[in-house]
Order: sequence, then C-alpha cells, then structure tokens
Amino acid sequence: MSKSLLRILYTSKTHNRLSDVDLTRLLHQSRENNQRIQIHGILCYNHFDFIQVLEGPETAVIALYKKILDDERHHDCKLINICLSNKYIFNNWAMGYIDISQGDMRRLRQELPEKLSNDNADKFAYQLKHYLNNPIKKTDQTIFI
Ligand SMILES: Cc1cc2nc3c(=O)[nH]c(=O)nc-3n(C[C@H](O)[C@H](O)[C@H](O)COP(=O)(O)O)c2cc1C
Repeated sequence: MSKSLLRILYTSKTHNRLSDVDLTRLLHQSRENNQRIQIHGILCYNHFDFIQVLEGPETAVIALYKKILDDERHHDCKLINICLSNKYIFNNWAMGYIDISQGDMRRLRQELPEKLSNDNADKFAYQLKHYLNNPIKKTDQTIFI
C-alpha cells in the first residue's frame, strides 16, 4: 500500500497560559478545520507546553504546520518527527485532546529526544492514543516513550 499520509510530531510552548475559553476556542477551530481537510491528530497541553501530532494528506499537513508555526499563541516549535504513513493512527479524532498532568508533561518533555526515529514516533503516538482511549485523568505515570 502506498504511503500517502504525512504524520508530524512537534512540541512548542505558550507565552502565557491559555485560559479555558481560549483553549476551547483553539480546539473548536482546529476540529472544524481539520475535519474539512482530512487531518487527524492529538493535542497535549499543560500550562506552558504543547505536544501535537498531526496526520493527513501531505500538502494539507505542511500547509497547516506553516500556519501553526506563525501562530502567536505559542513559540519555540520543535519538529521532533516527520514520516510517511499508510494509515491514520488518530482516525477517530479530528483533534483529540489530553489535559496532561504536570508530572507527565515534565517527564515527557525531559525524555522526548530532540528527534525521534520513525519507529519511536509511531510507538509514542500509539501511547498517546491509548491515553485518549483510557482517560485516566491526571495520573503521573501514564506515558513512557
Ligand atoms: C498549539 C496549536 C495547535 C494548533 N492546531 C491546529 C490544528 O490542528 N488545526 C487547525 O486548523 N489549526 C490549529 N491551530 C491554529 C492555527 O495556528 C491557525 O490559527 C488556524 O489554523 C487558522 O485557521 P483559519 O485559517 O480558519 O483562520 C493550532 C494553533 C496552536 C497554537
């Protein structure tokens, strides 16, 4: 099967903590747009850090990532992995959301290398999907790379 989808994983930081209203607006906007352009993914957020996985048609993902890079709601975007794939991992979510615990986020950011191999990035994305499917709120020991 040809690998016609692109999946990217990046991290970034907010300048100021987003209010619940701003976060809801961002998720709403993302879900609406992503559905239209066949993009799926997940956004993890805690206080000042984002981790996002985006997957979809190559040109759509690249165009969206360009917009995201210019978004003033965050900065310090680091592309951790980019790979081609033949299937969606987050097919059930236009943009899944994890309000990740501070402990998990700290550990993830510490353990997440500057770059991930494609295998590790896939494994990591599946762990996030597992977290989405089993939302044990605010645990401090849920995700490992
Ligand atoms: C951390 C972060 C993640 C985002 N994720 C998405 C996304 O998945 N989809 C999306 O359309 N916009 C996302 N955005 C918003 C885009 O940067 C941009 O504001 C939006 O796509 C513009 O939409 P519009 O062209 O409909 O005005 C994100 C922004 C931030 C700060």
